[in-house]
Amino acid sequence: MTASAKDLAALIPSGFTLGVATSAFQIEGALNEDGRGPSGWDAFAAKPGSIVEDQSPATSCDHYHRMPEDVALMKELGIDSYRFSLSWSRIQPGGSGPVNPAGLDFYDRLIDLLLANGISPMAALYHWDTPLPLDEAGGWMNRDTAYRLGEFAAIAAAAYGDRVVRWVTVNEPATVTTNGYALGLHAPGEALMVKALPSVHHQLLGHGLAMQALRAAKVPGEIGITNVYSPMVPASANPLDKLSSGLMDVFQNRLFADPVLLGKYPDVIRAATFFSSFSPSAEDMELISQPLDFYGLNYYMPTRVGAGPGDGTVPEGMAEAMGDDLSDSTPGAPFHIASFPDTEITAYGWPVKPDYMSVALAEMAERYPDLPPVYITEGGASFEDVVVRDAGADRLIIPDERRLRYLADHIGRAIEATAPGGAADSIDLRGYYVWSLMDNFEWSGGYKQPFGLVHVDFDTQVRTPKASYYWLQELLAARNGAAAAGPDVERPAETADVERPRPVG
Ligand code: BGC
Repeated sequence: MTASAKDLAALIPSGFTLGVATSAFQIEGALNEDGRGPSGWDAFAAKPGSIVEDQSPATSCDHYHRMPEDVALMKELGIDSYRFSLSWSRIQPGGSGPVNPAGLDFYDRLIDLLLANGISPMAALYHWDTPLPLDEAGGWMNRDTAYRLGEFAAIAAAAYGDRVVRWVTVNEPATVTTNGYALGLHAPGEALMVKALPSVHHQLLGHGLAMQALRAAKVPGEIGITNVYSPMVPASANPLDKLSSGLMDVFQNRLFADPVLLGKYPDVIRAATFFSSFSPSAEDMELISQPLDFYGLNYYMPTRVGAGPGDGTVPEGMAEAMGDDLSDSTPGAPFHIASFPDTEITAYGWPVKPDYMSVALAEMAERYPDLPPVYITEGGASFEDVVVRDAGADRLIIPDERRLRYLADHIGRAIEATAPGGAADSIDLRGYYVWSLMDNFEWSGGYKQPFGLVHVDFDTQVRTPKASYYWLQELLAARNGAAAAGPDVERPAETADVERPRPVG
């Protein structure tokens, strides 16, 4: 049963961060303003057929112009921390070379406003929007992009290092490789299948070089990477299904986590003949596996995997975002994603499985005994919302009970699993960031996959908090109340961080 906000608040450990997350390309709009250069996503989204109904990211939530209003919504919500990403193309329009002062200034103002409102800034350096000139030179298939990210990290450190409380180097490299380079569903639209492997190594190297630059700048904030993790579940006890699920686990989870946390790629990758020429240097692996201050984990759902191409049934929302040519079963595909029986699904067709939040954490704990402190850097659900006009009070009501339940159940499971005696109690879980503050441009899903706590009317830009927003507000207020009342409960550590950035290391 879903816990009430008050009951859940009582479970939240002291110092646990609750935040919301967004990313630059998904919310900012203003793609051609104040010296921003084009990104690979600008070009990809402009190609007919790339985005659902060819929807455009040009304005999106218009956050670039409405940033103070959005920070006010966060303040009103009462969150501890805000995770956003820096638009590389806004700050360094060419992806190398000169810096754009107007771009730097935007995040300067954002960070200051967050701090003035008691919200600690968590900045991601790379959330998928590669500057177009770098994509044109091969993007993440080109090793040079990793060095460019290192250079960008140094620029960001010099500009914001004194105030950013937590840094994410790279967000979900697995999604960039799978969707951007293997299947062609995201920018830069390459469908290289297994030949996309170099994009894995170069993103991880980019993470390593970015960390090195942030460390060299002696930023006081904590530094980590964000990987998505999806527990893999074989569709049956059939050995072929088990094998397929194991392979998916390697390609989606281990390929990205093992090098960072264990310093090596999974053996099966090294053994496969088509990768036999892949032999990263010891120096690369050292950069990639340097000690982290935290590990960022995005958890949305488990994945059920069956052998062979499947029967071609893909949930409607997913099919729409994948485009017609990829939504049918792919003849000859070695494995497919199967649906979970009797399971609620989101608008994307993703299974809602809060129990697997605990499984994800337990598997991480088992695989990586030296895991640093963990933040769930994203979790949330897209559901079609219904906007109801409350004529009496002249306001809109958005009763998104399913999203609210998703969040309550997942936050609850994460806290239970990492509490003493829980399935993953060796993990030092420090926080949970809800994806997302507001409905936004959901990549190839366009505006048809709303994940927000706040509804955005994309015609008028009017923001309306949903029931899930008010629920989170109540949870935070109850937690703060409990913290204030309890004699031995400390105030959330976040506030201390904001006032006095903690030296690292
Ligand atoms: C990404 C977000 C995305 C969310 C929902 C994560 O993979 O980091 O940018 O909007 O999932 O699909």
